[in-house]
Amino acid sequence: MSCSITLKKISYKNENRQLFSNIDLNVGHQEKVAIIGANGVGKSTLLKIIAGLKDSYEGELQLFHNPILSKKEYNKFRSDVGYLPQDVNDYFLCPIVIEDVMFNLRAKGMNKEEAYHKAILILENLGISHLKSRVILELSGGEQKIVALAGILITQPKILLLDEPTNALDFNTEKRIIDILNSIKKSMIIVSHHKSFIEKLAPTVYKLEKSGLEKI
Ligand SMILES: Nc1ncnc2c1ncn2[C@@H]1O[C@H](COP(=O)(O)OP(=O)(O)OP(=O)(O)O)[C@@H](O)[C@H]1O
Ligand SMILES: [Mg+2]
Repeated sequence: MSCSITLKKISYKNENRQLFSNIDLNVGHQEKVAIIGANGVGKSTLLKIIAGLKDSYEGELQLFHNPILSKKEYNKFRSDVGYLPQDVNDYFLCPIVIEDVMFNLRAKGMNKEEAYHKAILILENLGISHLKSRVILELSGGEQKIVALAGILITQPKILLLDEPTNALDFNTEKRIIDILNSIKKSMIIVSHHKSFIEKLAPTVYKLEKSGLEKI
């Protein structure tokens, strides 16, 4: 199987305790998997490891069959990975919605008109065009989450790591996000507590325990 993400015997210890160990996982090309588990078991921490935001873990992370042994190596793949954090508060780089959604395209050198056009399209797709000129700090939690998602999807990463993407969304918005994520043919790891959301999106579900990931 062609894999986008491979974890081999990943273990992580924070200052106080061993969080988890023996995490093995293969996420195939365009495969969608969900990870569930109790509060505090380490789901967000595991996603941060895969997102290249933690380096004090044991075991091996591979992206597209390339062992990632250093930050420098991770950086070669960083633009292939779109990471939506559980808490998007500290995530935004610009004060206004449209500017933030355009930011990564502008950073890659795209001209302003083209980046603006693409940002408008993604806001329309996500049903949040009306938020275009709003101050991000003045948006609700759910609105911020979907703006953050727009900023990720616009760069068309090959892998999506989504940490509780629907935890603050109303029923209709959640439904729209399910349809959009279902229509995207990418490798995805989705962490969620929402059983119905997972059922509609991810055929493969794992439960994170201290001693490893169990397929359920
Ligand atoms: N920055 C941090 N400093 C110290 N401990 C942390 C930090 N971030 C997380 N932890 C601890 O690590 C453990 C795992 O946290 P993590 O956020 O990965 O859990 P989770 O499974 O995502 O939980 P939830 O379902 O509540 O989101 C928790 O005990 C948490 O208190
Ligand atoms: Mg979490």
